[in-house]
Amino acid sequence: MFDLDRFVEDCRGALSADRTHKSVREVVARAVADPAGVIAGIGEPRRAEVQKLYHAPDLTILNVIWAPGMTIRPHNHLMWAVIGIYTGRENNIFWRRLPDDAAGRIEAAGAKSVGERDAEPLGRDIIHTVTNPLDRLTGAIHVYGGDFFATPRNEWDPETLVEAEFEMQTTMRLFEEANAAYEARMRAS
Ligand SMILES: [Fe+2]
Repeated sequence: MFDLDRFVEDCRGALSADRTHKSVREVVARAVADPAGVIAGIGEPRRAEVQKLYHAPDLTILNVIWAPGMTIRPHNHLMWAVIGIYTGRENNIFWRRLPDDAAGRIEAAGAKSVGERDAEPLGRDIIHTVTNPLDRLTGAIHVYGGDFFATPRNEWDPETLVEAEFEMQTTMRLFEEANAAYEARMRAS
């Protein structure tokens, strides 16, 4: 079964051996190879939310639970990440900056769908959008090679694709709204 303290210890060990995402990716891949074990360890996804599992200046570990159909706006991290899915699916659009654009606008550059048991590394400079394409909750362990909450970074307006400073509150509000809609639907069904 997934043991959070052990997982944090393993990630810390991997990070001290290798500052890139490579060793951490192996730790995450091992964990999500047993999705039922992860759920037994951290609980069944019940609501859309971002749960902080571990937080240090050089490492952040989150349990991210996406509501059915929800999409987060384009954003960067400015640190590497490893996304391990233990239930459901995350569809990514990857974006690149338009050259010499004063508004910092982006254009779509690629896509990747990540599903249960996948442990997907994301490079430091990626810009992405994430959608849960399913009609149920998606749950993923996100490991970031830095302080996810304190690092200044960017997001892009989903309509105009113009760059702005990332506001964690905007994202948290998005999760709250998605969750309210999800819970209303659950109550109605
Ligand atoms: Fe992200």
